[in-house]
Amino acid sequence: MIIFGALGDLSRRKLLPAIYELMHQHLVDEQFQVLGVGRDPGQTDDTFREQMRQALSASDEVGRFDEALWQDLCTRLHFVSADLTDAGDYAAIGERLTQIEAKCPPEQRNRLFYLAVPPSVFEPIVTNLSKSGLAPRTRTADGRPWARIVVEKPFGRSLESAQHLNALLLSMFAEHQTYRIDHYLGKETVQNVLVLRFANSIFEPIWNRQWIHHVQITAAETVGVEERGKYYEEAGVVRDMFQNHLLQLLSLTAMEPPAQMSANAVRDEKVKVLRSVRWLTPDAIPDNAVRAQYTAGAMDGKQVPGYRQEKDVAADSNVPTFAAVRLFVDNWRWNGVPFYLRSGKRLARRESEIAVQFRSPPHLMFGHLTREAMRPNTLVMRVQPNEGVALNFEVKVPGAAVALTSNIEIAPVDMEFDYANAFGEVSAPAYETLLLDVMIGEATLFTRSDEVEAAWRVIDPLIQHWEANPPKRMPGYAAGTWGPREADELIEEDGVEWREP
Ligand code: BG6
Repeated sequence: MIIFGALGDLSRRKLLPAIYELMHQHLVDEQFQVLGVGRDPGQTDDTFREQMRQALSASDEVGRFDEALWQDLCTRLHFVSADLTDAGDYAAIGERLTQIEAKCPPEQRNRLFYLAVPPSVFEPIVTNLSKSGLAPRTRTADGRPWARIVVEKPFGRSLESAQHLNALLLSMFAEHQTYRIDHYLGKETVQNVLVLRFANSIFEPIWNRQWIHHVQITAAETVGVEERGKYYEEAGVVRDMFQNHLLQLLSLTAMEPPAQMSANAVRDEKVKVLRSVRWLTPDAIPDNAVRAQYTAGAMDGKQVPGYRQEKDVAADSNVPTFAAVRLFVDNWRWNGVPFYLRSGKRLARRESEIAVQFRSPPHLMFGHLTREAMRPNTLVMRVQPNEGVALNFEVKVPGAAVALTSNIEIAPVDMEFDYANAFGEVSAPAYETLLLDVMIGEATLFTRSDEVEAAWRVIDPLIQHWEANPPKRMPGYAAGTWGPREADELIEEDGVEWREP
């Protein structure tokens, strides 16, 4: 595995812990080695190893730090310094690779290139990598040795730039070599959406417009922009969360059953859903989408600054940190069913979930008091934290006290499935799952080129419209709340409310 950008944040916080945990579970090959590539000419194998040791011991994604396991990993870590934008520096990478691979039989010299590099240098790096011959294009997915390229988000910053990047990548590598990461797809509960829907027979018959009133997809974060002000000013919540994570959740929820659990069958269905999402035309945007920015507030009893006061953020920034959008999937199954999507930083709780709300019973016979109190059934797939599934329904409250008024007292209860309770272990961090998938050549949980473009097609009009029309006054929400009033109004127009998970 060759990590481009090996000294960066992603490598330290996600990739090394994932490798360590995979080794812990004996899931990597005896011959597995890591070559870190970074710019700093002062780094050596030893300094790199020391930095990775520190990163691992500080990581909360690593269970207990095991010295023996670390020693094993440590000897497999190597470093070479290179300016990846300079084609001339690739010879040195090649030399190190040749040394490292010397003990391997030729057909086992597989190479996994992980591009943990900023978008601004993505193009020259992909081009140099291809020209250097270190990652040859391969005709079939099962040829040996293989070379695979993992590409991090953001994948472009508009439909046009994503198309451009795809064209560039695919002019040099085959689609089957290219793994576009969306780490949400590595989350246990996100994969469970497919299992819940398609390994059970009770949900699918009612999974349509006749029974489902609407769907709410929430990705709420408590963190602010932290050290990433510069990136976030360029991105904003729609590029950062909607284009990828939220639309992935939508497509898994709304897709038709694939014929088989294969990468292409699943991705074909997801692409079809994305292509069915009604376009957000400029006329439709003001009525269907809300943006806002967090202002100062209290989180866990501590005062935190507003977005415009964050480091590397402009004092008059109009970049949204929260958005709520009403989308429609214009196909046979979903006609007329709203999908409400929302995501924001500095919200009241860290909670990502998909909540499917069913229609109310057509006739209520339990008296007028219950009519107001009754809540429609909801199936909630909790993505994080407390991964699980809850089905909410109404029951009769025990007792006969209200019989005289001909009202039966009714209360909502939850039927609960909780991953940790049921299986006694917390699910694997997303990067662990995804990295293993790349190693074994399993591409189902990665975004195909047409899929990434279909997602941009949904979301780009919104970004373009908002950027071209800055608000006269950016709606605000105090840190630690559930978002702006405008988001409540958006959904209340349809007679529903946001869930407060
Ligand atoms: C990333 C975004 O893709 O996802 C971050 O760039 C965001 O801004 C993160 O915080 C959320 O991921 P998770 O796994 O913490 O929900």
